Amino acid sequence: MTQTLAINNSQRLQLAPLKVPDRLLLGPGPSNAHPAILQAMDTAPVGHLDPVFLGLMDEIQSLLRYVWQTNNPLTIAVSGTGSAAMEATIANSVEPGDVVLVGVMGYFGNRLVDMAGRYGADVRTITKPWGQVFTLEELRIALETNRPAILALVHAETSTGARQPLEGVGELCREFGCLLLIDTVTSLGGVPIFLDEWGVDLAYSCSQKGLGCPPGASPFTISSRAMEKLQRRTAKVANWYLDMTLLGKYWGPERVYHHTAPINLYYALREALRLIAEEGLDHCWQRHQKNAEYLWERLEDIGLTLHVERAFRLPTLTTVRIPDGVDGKAIARTLLTDYNIEIGGGLGELAGKVWRIGLMGYNSRPENVDRLVETLKAVLA
Ligand SMILES: Cc1ncc(COP(=O)(O)O)c(C=O)c1O
Repeated sequence: MTQTLAINNSQRLQLAPLKVPDRLLLGPGPSNAHPAILQAMDTAPVGHLDPVFLGLMDEIQSLLRYVWQTNNPLTIAVSGTGSAAMEATIANSVEPGDVVLVGVMGYFGNRLVDMAGRYGADVRTITKPWGQVFTLEELRIALETNRPAILALVHAETSTGARQPLEGVGELCREFGCLLLIDTVTSLGGVPIFLDEWGVDLAYSCSQKGLGCPPGASPFTISSRAMEKLQRRTAKVANWYLDMTLLGKYWGPERVYHHTAPINLYYALREALRLIAEEGLDHCWQRHQKNAEYLWERLEDIGLTLHVERAFRLPTLTTVRIPDGVDGKAIARTLLTDYNIEIGGGLGELAGKVWRIGLMGYNSRPENVDRLVETLKAVLA
């Protein structure tokens, strides 16, 4: 049957050039990008095998090792959002029948469960109420009980604002002979991470949060232990696009074509990482912590309550309890439409119960805290 097209090919269309409002993005991501990053994106693309671009890929690899504090040779950006890098860690490490133990303390732990299941893992979970984190002892018991091939944890649970401590977890994983896979989507660039010191084997992140870049090019890294598991596979990685045995040949010395990289996104990522290196990683982490503490103080000053216990709060993402009788969605809508400020609502168990406020990358600045809190106070009144 022939379909009737709404627009026929002889018609001309007059559309206004793209215009979007200038929003302050203080939700769970994306965050606003630094002007230098947007300028870098506006640079003419070169080819994906051009020596200049290959040099830029090398720079991205070195800078990603720096922000993650790792020496893993295969540390690259995946062309896609954080979920693509997440899927890359699972697709390359999980073989059908592998026991994968996932610590679920929020929405993104559940996404790991879903993905690992799709790759044929025997998925086991341990859970925590949303907003809490696992103790080392709880992880030890779960490893002893389940004897997994992989333990997967979310370092920074964006749905709750909680930071999972990772000191000692890598040693536990070695004791039980399993790999440690970590989600650092809401921590990279904004929260101290020491991948090698912590014994992390697989990690992924995104560009649009702590790195302050637009979304689309997502960090991925794999340790030599996890590489050995990948090399021992009997079947091919079930996902062609994310197969590190192929991608490694594009990012490594062979430079074999794999896919046409989104050149301008890689320009942006390179620039975002350059800005962090220029600021200094320690300084960048401290800035996030200081501005988050300022936010917490100002929110409490206007009578609001924070959801996560202070010791486990993320500096990048704060969950604020919506006061009784307040329509949280309506407040967020007013902030967006009348004041051009975006904040997030709750997900899953916390839907309707919290607002999520991000202070990430370029947006982690005291003037943004002042603008948000003053506006929120006025809107609530
Ligand atoms: C902790 C966590 N993991 C994974 C993702 C998925 O990333 P993306 O939305 O960029 O695909 C997100 C997104 O916010 C996240 O917060």
